[in-house]
Amino acid sequence: MIGTTSLSSPNLQTDETLSFSETVRTRRSYRGFLSTPIPKSTLISVLEDAQRAPSNCNTQPWNVHIVSGSKLAELSKAILTKNDTGHYTPDFTFDMNHFYGVYGIRKDAQGKAYYEAMEVARDDKAARHRAAAHNYSFFNAPHVALLFMPSFGDNVRVASDIGMYAQTFLLALAARGLGGIPQTSLGFFAETIREILGISEDQKMLFGISFGYPDEHAPGNRMKMDRVAIGDSVTFHY
Ligand SMILES: Cc1cc2nc3c(=O)[nH]c(=O)nc-3n(C[C@H](O)[C@H](O)[C@H](O)COP(=O)(O)O)c2cc1C
Repeated sequence: MIGTTSLSSPNLQTDETLSFSETVRTRRSYRGFLSTPIPKSTLISVLEDAQRAPSNCNTQPWNVHIVSGSKLAELSKAILTKNDTGHYTPDFTFDMNHFYGVYGIRKDAQGKAYYEAMEVARDDKAARHRAAAHNYSFFNAPHVALLFMPSFGDNVRVASDIGMYAQTFLLALAARGLGGIPQTSLGFFAETIREILGISEDQKMLFGISFGYPDEHAPGNRMKMDRVAIGDSVTFHY
């Protein structure tokens, strides 16, 4: 199910994009980036693509905060401190123990692949904490997109809209030879992030996406997650 090959991201000229099929097959979560910032014009074209995402009743509920430079360093420092003291302030619950059956098995396989890539022993708690904390230095990415949303009812519909936006954003990056990683873990510090960026309390944070130029040699990029067969996910009815 899991390989450990290091994939290389395609070299593209400015304004050139991959075909749809290449884009979908190339996209993966990167856990290591070069510090080189993305040119503003490229970032705007990614955001313009992402803005085309569908949403319930075209409400377009995504409120996206892109953080770079010294503000990103400030954010990382604050979150790493809160993480070390276990001071979590998520807007939405997340409990890995809820993943039952095959979902738990897939979750465990993903965790195992990451810690193997990072050469961290399963029973080395301190090393696991350090490896997980790379989420909070944004895996060295020069940018993060923090996805905030208004709160409506049980929030399930709004959250699905944010998911639509996020995948369009990730594919827009992949099409340009860039990379990103969606991170629920950033949402564990929603309150801290709101405080530092001056975001109002009525905006709830679902997750963030660190992004930039993938560092193909970073240990975190040694893993490649596979998928179950279509037959395990899709049922045809006639
Ligand atoms: C909404 C969402 C949140 C995620 N949160 C994290 C995270 O906090 N940290 C992390 O390392 N990976 C995170 N991931 C990445 C998943 O582990 C990854 O998408 C999955 O293993 C499949 O691998 P691939 O994206 O490389 O195809 C998240 C993915 C999604 C869709």
